[in-house]
Amino acid sequence: MKNTIVLKKVSVVIDQKTILKDISLSVKPDKPLCIIGRGSSGKSSLLKTIIGLIKVNSGSILINDIPINDKRINEIFNDFGVVFQKDALFDSLNVWQNIMFRSLNNFGKDLLIKKTYKILEKVGLQRSDAFLFPAELSGGMRKRVAIARAISHSPKFLILDEPTAGLDPIKTNVIFQIIKKLADNKQTTLIVVTSDMRGVIKYFSEVVVLENTRLHWKGEVQDVYKNPTPHVKSLFEKVF
Ligand SMILES: Nc1ncnc2c1ncn2[C@@H]1O[C@H](COP(=O)(O)OP(=O)(O)OP(=O)(O)O)[C@@H](O)[C@H]1O
Ligand SMILES: [Mg+2]
Repeated sequence: MKNTIVLKKVSVVIDQKTILKDISLSVKPDKPLCIIGRGSSGKSSLLKTIIGLIKVNSGSILINDIPINDKRINEIFNDFGVVFQKDALFDSLNVWQNIMFRSLNNFGKDLLIKKTYKILEKVGLQRSDAFLFPAELSGGMRKRVAIARAISHSPKFLILDEPTAGLDPIKTNVIFQIIKKLADNKQTTLIVVTSDMRGVIKYFSEVVVLENTRLHWKGEVQDVYKNPTPHVKSLFEKVF
C-alpha cells in the first residue's frame, strides 16, 4: 500500500543485548504516529531500525510492501526525511548548504538559495538565516533548520526524533504546528518520537508506548484517558 510502514514482530539484538523485542505496528499517511516511553526504552533505536541504520535480527519491516532488505528499498529511502535526536547539522556548512546538502553537487548556488528561501518560510525562518552557521543558531532555530532539511526534497515519509527537546513551550508549539501542517496533507507518513505529553494529546491521534524494548501500549490518544495501564498513566501524570 502507498506510503505505509509495517513492522511484524521485529526484534533487534546488538552485542547480545536486546534492543527491541517483538515490535509489531503499522503507520499510514492519514494517521500520524507518535512514539513515547521513558529514556532508553528503545525509541530512537526503533526509528533507526525503520530507516535501515540498525539491522533487524528477526521479524520484518515492509515499506510500501517491500521488505527493507530488498534492493528496491533504496529508491524508497530517497523519499524519507529524517531529523535525528541531536539535529545532526553539518557544523561546517551554513543553513542553506545544510538544507540543500543533497543537491550541492548538482545545482548552482543561486537556484539552491532560492529553493532554501521557500523552505525557510515553511518553518518560520527568515531569508537572512540562510547564511548563518549552526553555531550561530538558537536551539529552536536548529530544530527548524533540521526539519527544513528533512522536508527539503518533499519526502513521503517523515521521521522525527524529539523535534522539540529542550525548547520552551512556545517554541514547542510552533514546531508541533509546523509538523502538523506537513502531516495534514495526508500524503506524508509521519512518525515522531517525543517526550512532550501535552504535544502528544494536542497534535496526534495514534500513540505507541515503548517500555524496556517492548511495545507496552498502542492506541488512540483518547484511550490514554479511558484505558491506561499504570505505566501509561505515570507517563501522562503531569498532563492529567
Ligand atoms: N548501537 C547500539 N549498540 C548498543 N546498544 C545500543 C545501541 N543503540 C542503542 N543501544 C541501547 O539501546 C537502548 C535503547 O536506546 P535508545 O537510544 O533507543 O533509547 P531511547 O528510548 O531513544 O532513549 P532516550 O529517551 O534517552 O532518547 C539503550 O540501552 C542503549 O544503550
Ligand atoms: Mg532517543
